[in-house]
Amino acid sequence: MSIHKILVTGANGQLGWELAQAAVAFPEFEFIFLDRTTLDLAKPESFETIIKQIAPNAIINTAAYTAVDKAEVEKELAYTVNALAVQELARISKVLAIPFITYSTDYVFNGNATSPYLTDMPVDPVNYYGATKAGGEQMAMDANENTIIIRTSWVFSTHGNNFVKTMMRLMKERASLSIVGDQKGRPTYAKDLALATIHILVAINKGQVIKGIYHYANTGETTWFGFAQKIKEIAGLTCELKSINTIDFPTPAKRPAYSVLDTNKIESHISVTIPSWEVALLECITQIVKS
Ligand SMILES: NC(=O)c1ccc[n+]([C@@H]2O[C@H](COP(=O)([O-])OP(=O)(O)OC[C@H]3O[C@@H](n4cnc5c(N)ncnc54)[C@H](OP(=O)(O)O)[C@@H]3O)[C@@H](O)[C@H]2O)c1
Repeated sequence: MSIHKILVTGANGQLGWELAQAAVAFPEFEFIFLDRTTLDLAKPESFETIIKQIAPNAIINTAAYTAVDKAEVEKELAYTVNALAVQELARISKVLAIPFITYSTDYVFNGNATSPYLTDMPVDPVNYYGATKAGGEQMAMDANENTIIIRTSWVFSTHGNNFVKTMMRLMKERASLSIVGDQKGRPTYAKDLALATIHILVAINKGQVIKGIYHYANTGETTWFGFAQKIKEIAGLTCELKSINTIDFPTPAKRPAYSVLDTNKIESHISVTIPSWEVALLECITQIVKS
């Protein structure tokens, strides 16, 4: 069956919003965007009726419980949204025999690696958010072996809450800021990830078999401190930035020290050229400043 009508969860999130922007250039697809008022991921028992009414021929799940520190205390809700709901969406997709795309995180890894994480490396989350996402991955795969999981990292966008917007605000408000400089990862522009996701749909419609785990992040790698320095430079701000160690910035949830994702698999399976994180950041900040 060719994909035409696509149900997207998480309409108001960074990725859901960017998918809506990117969708305009793909009139062959009809996207139905649902937010938490129309599809609440905390209520998996409600999904089947809602989805059957819409009758999509693909589901993209961008919604998630993404508050990494809060997940340490709101465990039940985080698990329901990130694991049980994903399992149920995978199950329904299997019953309907339609593609199911969902997203996961670099935080499924423990951060002890010294070279980029491949898609088949063992997961070992160091915080509860990562554990719920790793659980969601496995449960979705068990419910529907054709599930497409895209792990991503350090997501930013012109829309929603993210490191770039927070830094731009804080750098205007404060004379100096201390930023963690000993965690390494790959920033990801939600706009680029949205486009890559639509290219997956295009590839499926051309008959390509796409299933299993993929990694998507902008190319290059940096630390949160390096990321902040680039934000400061592009936005032309003057705040003094100091690099600190994780140990000096305690948070309720532990973070992996190294969570660089290897993206070779997705680059070889679909026709996307992934921009560098610096180019993506320049575009994002230019848009933020314009609006
Ligand atoms: N953000 C990152 O840095 C990051 C890093 C790695 C992986 N990821 C993964 O990438 C995917 C996209 O993330 P994102 O950055 O777009 O996240 P986001 O901006 O935080 O958006 C998450 C969306 O999920 C929605 N949501 C939360 N609980 C819900 C519920 N019970 N029912 C329905 N919707 C609910 C939120 O709704 P409201 O708008 O109503 O709150 C929000 O629109 C997620 O799977 C995330 O885990 C993100």
